[in-house]
Amino acid sequence: MIGSSDIMSRISDEKILEIRNSVNIVDIVSEYLPLVQKGKNYFGVCPFHDDHNPSMSVTQDKQMFKCFVCGVGGNVFTFLMEYEHISFLEAVKKIADKVNIQLDIGPITKKSVSHLSKYYEMYDLSMKYYQNNLKTASGKDALKYLQDRGINEEIIKEFGIGISYKGDKLYKMLKASKHDDKGIEESGLCNYNDKGYYDVFSNRIMFPLFDIDGKVVAFSGRIYNTTDSSKYVNSKESPIFKKGQMIYNYHRVREFVRKSGQVIVVEGFMDVIALYKVGINNVVATMGTAITSEQARLIKRLSTDVILMFDGDNAGNKATVSCAEELQKVGITPKIIRLEDKLDPDDYINKYGIERLKEHIENPISLIDYKMIIYKENKNLQNSVDVSNYINEVIKELKFVNDKIVRDLVLQKLSNETGVSLNTISSIIKKEETNKIIKPELIKPSKKMNRYEKAYKGLLFYMLRYKEVIRIVDDSNVFIPNREHRLLACEITSFYEKYENINIADFTAFLGDKKELVEIVNQIFDLPLPEEYINEEIDDYIKVLNEYTVNLEQKRLEELMKESKSDIDKADIAKKIIELKKEWI
Ligand code: UTP
Ligand code: MN
Repeated sequence: MIGSSDIMSRISDEKILEIRNSVNIVDIVSEYLPLVQKGKNYFGVCPFHDDHNPSMSVTQDKQMFKCFVCGVGGNVFTFLMEYEHISFLEAVKKIADKVNIQLDIGPITKKSVSHLSKYYEMYDLSMKYYQNNLKTASGKDALKYLQDRGINEEIIKEFGIGISYKGDKLYKMLKASKHDDKGIEESGLCNYNDKGYYDVFSNRIMFPLFDIDGKVVAFSGRIYNTTDSSKYVNSKESPIFKKGQMIYNYHRVREFVRKSGQVIVVEGFMDVIALYKVGINNVVATMGTAITSEQARLIKRLSTDVILMFDGDNAGNKATVSCAEELQKVGITPKIIRLEDKLDPDDYINKYGIERLKEHIENPISLIDYKMIIYKENKNLQNSVDVSNYINEVIKELKFVNDKIVRDLVLQKLSNETGVSLNTISSIIKKEETNKIIKPELIKPSKKMNRYEKAYKGLLFYMLRYKEVIRIVDDSNVFIPNREHRLLACEITSFYEKYENINIADFTAFLGDKKELVEIVNQIFDLPLPEEYINEEIDDYIKVLNEYTVNLEQKRLEELMKESKSDIDKADIAKKIIELKKEWI
């Protein structure tokens, strides 16, 4: 059976292969990133590392993809698993849905085998509990607060907004749903003191935070009728919530981004909601913190056309610069919107109306122009030192600008603004460039394989291609002295026994969620060996491996011989050693 979990064993191997065969990997991958055909293969910018060139190839014949820089590769399911952070089963389901193949896995999916399911359950229950609170009489104040902010019933429902109360009601409810104290505490929803357990969120308007699959994994609670010192309180990190991976609205935004081709990034989730209200739906929020490289990569997965529309205050400017830097590291140069009067998008709409905000969205400025504005602020261009600093700061930014026209325009602008001649500015750039130390490309020395490794990898290389080799290896009873590779050989054999054939894409599908094995398959499949095999070579590999086994066994017997006291035993063992060698090499 494919995969190891209960659920997986409900879908037959045949079904999984049928699903895999029903799509073309090129079509599926192109839904996620642009591919360009070169010869027989397709190439794209790899979404799994900070790629700037098309390093990922997608092969139609083999129905496999592979990045030759970061090494990630596999079949269409592997791609979805990696890209969407989903399980093998979910990937299979996704494709099945696409091609309308019925997957009858019934109610068992609910009883997920994941050890995380209890946390997801608790968060889901809590969201419903908070939502329900808002409908009760004591939710009136909060409801009014939301309504005053223009958040109506429909938006409340869409974003799952609710309210928390002081006490231990949620705790009791979770207990009643058979969750234990340890789990409840780990979830971050409740805590305890000497008086017992209590709900962490108390008297706050609750905004659920969803992960990229749309599951509630945390909350942010806002004050509304008090002057508590913290405006928002967020869930602590838990087994299902990592702050550095959270992008607000990610799960909802995909289809909208696909339509508009563009993603707008704001700081606050209230801004996301405010924009959603007025029909601007392709918006995500960083939630006020500096973004991590992981979040930058997530944004890149949505689109490479990114607009940053942070708060118009000083903090917003700082956040813009640092977010842009993080995005540039993953190969994206965002465009920028600067809002006047230090306003955030929500307040901006309230003050100036949606039309004026839309004008901004239609006319974002380039990052370099934005930087020039920022660098100029707090500087006096009548002061020579300020001028020099300004020019140097802008020149440093130019290394990110590839477009020659833009570069020229920037230089022209610099010269006009400061009165420093173009010649002088150009000479500073030249100096910068010659000062740059050219880093030699890091070339990973390929680890030298010993002969045993060469032998079993060679065998697997051909087993993945030729059923004849599978048969030879099977008959030889050869022992592969490495656990994973041995497992892989077993999997190849069982695949062959079932289908009487071998095919790399189907075989990787057959491996299901055994990620380590899929990885090894990828490494082995791409070894620089000739496509065709000769029998002598296969025999040689087997011989080498037998030698290894014999050596091991010989060592064991020799130890035994040393330990044994009786001469008869010793002679017996010596005889065994000779026979062993005769039989195997
Ligand atoms: P803002 O202070 O800009 O919030 O913080 P906002 O979006 O304008 O919210 P409203 O309009 O006052 O309700 C931006 C983001 O920073 C995080 C939140 O995620 C918020 O969306 N933040 C802010 C906190 O986590 N804690 C805080 O105390 C404040
Ligand atoms: Mn605001």
